[in-house]
Amino acid sequence: MAATFAGAQGAAAPAQLHVNVAHNVSSVSPTLYGLMTEEINHSYEGGLYGEMVQNRSFHADWEGEPPWDLVRHGDAVATRSLDSSTGPSTALSFSMKLAVSSASPGNEAGLTNPGFWGYGVKPGTTYSGSLYARVDDAGIGPITVRMVNNATGETAAEAQVNLLAGPWQRYAYKLVTSRTVKPSIANHLEFTVSHAGTVWLQSVSLMQPTFHNRPNGNRIDLMERMAAMHPAFLRLPGGNYLEGARQKDWYDWKKTIGPLIDRPGHPSPWFYWSTDGFGLLEFLEWCEDLKVEPVLAVYAGFSLDGSHVATGKDMEPYVQSALDEIEYVTGNISTKWGAERARDGHPAPFPLHYIEIGNEDYLDHSGSYTARFAQFAEAIRRRYPQYKLISTDGNSEYATRVNADVSDEHYYKSPSDMMDLAHHYDAAPRNGPKIFVGEWATRSGSPTPNFGDALGDAAWMTSMERNSDLIVMASYAPLLTNVSPGGMEWPTDLIGFDAGTTYGSPSYWAQCLFAAHLGEHTVESSVAGVGPRFFYSATVSAQAKVLHLKLVNASTVKQPLALRLEGVQGAHIARITSLHAATMEATNSLSDPLAIHPVESVATIAGSAWEHTVPALTIEVVDIRY
Ligand code: AHR
Repeated sequence: MAATFAGAQGAAAPAQLHVNVAHNVSSVSPTLYGLMTEEINHSYEGGLYGEMVQNRSFHADWEGEPPWDLVRHGDAVATRSLDSSTGPSTALSFSMKLAVSSASPGNEAGLTNPGFWGYGVKPGTTYSGSLYARVDDAGIGPITVRMVNNATGETAAEAQVNLLAGPWQRYAYKLVTSRTVKPSIANHLEFTVSHAGTVWLQSVSLMQPTFHNRPNGNRIDLMERMAAMHPAFLRLPGGNYLEGARQKDWYDWKKTIGPLIDRPGHPSPWFYWSTDGFGLLEFLEWCEDLKVEPVLAVYAGFSLDGSHVATGKDMEPYVQSALDEIEYVTGNISTKWGAERARDGHPAPFPLHYIEIGNEDYLDHSGSYTARFAQFAEAIRRRYPQYKLISTDGNSEYATRVNADVSDEHYYKSPSDMMDLAHHYDAAPRNGPKIFVGEWATRSGSPTPNFGDALGDAAWMTSMERNSDLIVMASYAPLLTNVSPGGMEWPTDLIGFDAGTTYGSPSYWAQCLFAAHLGEHTVESSVAGVGPRFFYSATVSAQAKVLHLKLVNASTVKQPLALRLEGVQGAHIARITSLHAATMEATNSLSDPLAIHPVESVATIAGSAWEHTVPALTIEVVDIRY
């Protein structure tokens, strides 16, 4: 009979896995696992950022100011138009003009906003709203804000905003849901008036409750998901988001700080507008809330349209911007930009060790990166010799040539290609720059990785742990996607969410497990006689005396192991956490968020020998206290 999937029921021959916990081989970087996101897939706008109103600043495109719409109840008569002649600030010098020629209680007119594919209504919850408005005549009466169910038309929460005639003013309001309201995302917001008149609006906002109650902060469930990944750093602000589609769209961080009303916003290269409510300080506070360090990427003059800024005089303003940015992040309050940060509400400097110059500069086929890197590196090192500089040409020979401390290398691969890459760094030179795997992902699932991807990721993580004397940091990308139709630009993202809930993909769970059981050193180990697609790493936490074994069986055949654990004597408990699925295609989703999830079990080991079988299509993290 031909070899078929029936092999799935069979077993490979027992393999010999020898581990010596007493013999350290190489160090494991405590910063190995970190985070990388950018404004892609509505990661911030419509994602992590607590703002619920889509396009709160009425940014216009060829279709108008989507997704805002006019609402006219009963026989109300009104028009809406973008007015470029008035706005509350220089940055937002335009507004939405609502001209109501006829309205009355019950026959109201106004604007609706569908949110980022809905509004997450939860029971007993307070939502904090604000808006800027101008009325010349207060006879238009108050604005009523309602959160309305799309299907039933029922109001989940309501507030009144009383307007004062005169110049632009900021108004605050709160929407509070009852304890009995049914959780749902199929809701929209209405801002209506019940008298004739004209009102101009700008920065119409509604914030959901935020992590640590931070004003202008982050969505709680997504922050909790990230915290569970035990990250050590956050690479910010991109990715392509750093560069922009065109030079004029570069991440000009100075326009992303200070009062929200003074932030003009800018287009993300991922085809939508960023209000920059989630700006540089918000990135840094996100680091603070997760207790991780920023890895700060500075714009180095290359944009995605392939153009670059010439080195020398033309580049000087960008170099100065980078120096100012580093001062904003790290300077004390006696420095110009440190004082600016304090005025923005954060007197304490942030920790920093790494600065990345550009992003994926191997895409600059003009060869200008060498000179651009040199100009930035020279200026940064002169002023800040303590920081390690990361080059982004994507290979360490290049990084050696330009005298970078670290080389950022990116891998997006299919499951089998990722597994084939698992020995890529085993023989890499150790006397050159360190490696930052600043973006990596096994990609076949959409919107989030399937179990085959998780197996590729786990195989890759065993290899990064084995080589973590060289690989100092690694971050999966992209981390987040809004899975609502229209929310995603880049498939295969670690965490999926909509306006109401989130879920972790199988790859997410694999990463949580690996990071939670990292260890400080690899230990001597060898394997003989394993079947194909078996991967492992062996690290120890020396003080706690715990051996962490990661065993990855990516084949459809179970893998029996005869383990010899040198240095482990007497009776021991092995704590096993497993991720398993019946097929490579199996996955998690919003409707089945825990189809694949970690399952814990224990095994008793009598001495240094342990017979253990890793089932087919299984990732195991085994802790053995010795
Ligand atoms: O992670 C998505 C994109 O992939 C990043 O923006 C870019 O750096 C890479 O090409």
